[in-house]
Amino acid sequence: MKFIVTGGAGFIGNNIVRQLLKQNHTPIVIDNLYRGKIESISSLDVEFHKVDIQDFDQLRNILKNSEGIFHEAALTDVQESFTKQQEYNDVNVKGTENIFKIAKEFDLKVVYASSSSVYGNPKKIPITENSERNPINPYGKTKLDDEFLAEKYSKDNVSIIGLRYFNVYGEGQTGSYAGVITKFLNRLKEKKSPIIFGTGTQIRDFIFVEDVALANIVAMQSNIKNGFFNIGTGITTSIQQLAKIMIEISGLKLEPQYEKALNGDVQSSQADMSLTESILKWKYSMELKNGLAKFFI
Ligand SMILES: NC(=O)c1ccc[n+]([C@@H]2O[C@H](COP(=O)([O-])OP(=O)(O)OC[C@H]3O[C@@H](n4cnc5c(N)ncnc54)[C@H](O)[C@@H]3O)[C@@H](O)[C@H]2O)c1
Repeated sequence: MKFIVTGGAGFIGNNIVRQLLKQNHTPIVIDNLYRGKIESISSLDVEFHKVDIQDFDQLRNILKNSEGIFHEAALTDVQESFTKQQEYNDVNVKGTENIFKIAKEFDLKVVYASSSSVYGNPKKIPITENSERNPINPYGKTKLDDEFLAEKYSKDNVSIIGLRYFNVYGEGQTGSYAGVITKFLNRLKEKKSPIIFGTGTQIRDFIFVEDVALANIVAMQSNIKNGFFNIGTGITTSIQQLAKIMIEISGLKLEPQYEKALNGDVQSSQADMSLTESILKWKYSMELKNGLAKFFI
């Protein structure tokens, strides 16, 4: 089938494109290359449009001939979002509304990237989908505004599924989005100690990018029309543990360094996966150690 992938030159979008090709679908990529890399698509046999999702008319022209939309394009840097709030709002919220509007006009299903950042600092873990949404940074706030829009358009009979990704890792991550694994990896490649911000007791639910790509396709093909679903593993790893595992894989004799905690960094994040597993019928398949070993050089 002919599917649009916005942000298809970026980390997760590009993995969706590759999975779609493997499954003999026809992906059409939209990306303004703000962060995405042209090389990630020029090597593939796909139609590419260098278009900004804020450009409604161009977007409409491309989307109208498709059979569904995977919407991944966004500004994704939590720290940058504090200083560029207007820009984050324009791209992440207004851009997303453009997608929903066009989907409504042409009756297209949308599967889009929400984020665990909508939960902020949860009162309780693991986090279920009906937990309070209380983002603690402007980036997370844009993702929550997208969810309000998704709810509004869903009431209008548009089929929209929001996938709340937890911490995604894998080959090709730009390092902009809470990319702690990429940052550790880059330090280790230079034979330097990974830097931990804060105490390192922060816990995360790391999910492999290929699993995320497959979750998107499962959601697109399922009979479920609407809703938000956690996309994680349900398993937690502390940042200290992560540093230890990565140092071990590298074979280097190093200890992590510690620096001041980052602004807007959540303390604990762990997905409750029951709803996704029972309703969407998707579960992760890659264990963290194996996933890391796959792209660790
Ligand atoms: N990586 C994670 O851990 C994670 C976690 C939760 C949610 N998400 C969400 O998943 C999606 C994909 O994230 P990613 O990690 O692949 O980030 P990324 O930065 O690698 O990819 C985003 C892509 O969108 C493109 N883009 C940005 N602004 C655009 C615009 N105005 N018009 C067209 N294209 C534009 C960029 O060039 C880039 O290729 C985002 O919506 C992000 O918020 C990511």
